[in-house]
Amino acid sequence: MTARAIGELLVAAESTLREAGLAEPRDEALYLLGLLLDRRRGQLLLQRAESVDRDVAERFHAWVRRRANREPAQHIAGEQEFHGLSFRVTPDVLIPRNETEMLVDELLAVTPRDGVVVDLGTGSGCIVVAAAVKRHDLRLQALECSSAALDVARSNARRHGVLDRVEFVEGDFSAPPEAWFGTAHTVVSNPPYVREAEWAALEPEVRDHDPRGALVAGEHGLEAYRVLIPQARLLLRPGGRLLLELGKGQAAEVRALAAAVGFASLQVKPDLNGIPRLLTAVLRSAP
Ligand SMILES: C[S@@+](CC[C@H](N)C(=O)[O-])C[C@H]1O[C@@H](n2cnc3c(N)ncnc32)[C@H](O)[C@@H]1O
Repeated sequence: MTARAIGELLVAAESTLREAGLAEPRDEALYLLGLLLDRRRGQLLLQRAESVDRDVAERFHAWVRRRANREPAQHIAGEQEFHGLSFRVTPDVLIPRNETEMLVDELLAVTPRDGVVVDLGTGSGCIVVAAAVKRHDLRLQALECSSAALDVARSNARRHGVLDRVEFVEGDFSAPPEAWFGTAHTVVSNPPYVREAEWAALEPEVRDHDPRGALVAGEHGLEAYRVLIPQARLLLRPGGRLLLELGKGQAAEVRALAAAVGFASLQVKPDLNGIPRLLTAVLRSAP
């Protein structure tokens, strides 16, 4: 491949990505080339006649082929923005989703000064790291069963200068460290909640590239909630808050699971698409 003009590269990439079935091939081509050249979309559009080196053209071509094979752009870039911060992502962690920012907003709003927050299933660490960056008074504890994911979470905490304020522990929802019992002002979780039967029909970017264990939770998508809600009760102080991300159509069942173990003031909040997405609950104080 010889030196090529930016405009020429974009036209070829757009056509490859359209043929691969991507919904927004032009935006995707601009995003990938912008990332490679460290330029904004607007700059690229103004600089269409400029030539780039053969090396750059070849790398761009390779990235476009990967994207055409439905590898997520976040894996090609190696990062994803979440709550205004850039997070490292690898195939070992779920790519943070926009709707999960609601959990962070809620935890920042309800956790008292100098409060303790526990995150169950921390993945890339996006929730605890964003919370630690925004609130310097908080103490954060994060549980995760995948050691590979924990490595990514720790690297994200280091990247944002909060590694000394988050305790990362490898373990299962069913057995959080006993030292955490009764300490938390807020327990937060975005657990796996996809039904087994839904897996095959997910977009290839998700099905073939996100870790299955981060998404699937048994026949009804409720297995993780069944295990972690009773544990959250043990982790919280009386009056503490439970904040859970919800899968589509699961609000009533998850609400019932929380009510059954003593949570009160249950509220469900919708995301920007109107889907019930966040359950908030308060652990009743002892009578
Ligand atoms: C939906 S992902 C959420 C990751 C991250 N908190 C986020 O919001 O992007 C769920 C996470 O829970 C972890 N996980 C799944 N089952 C678990 C279990 N039984 N015990 C501990 N962690 C678990 C997965 O490895 C995954 O990292």
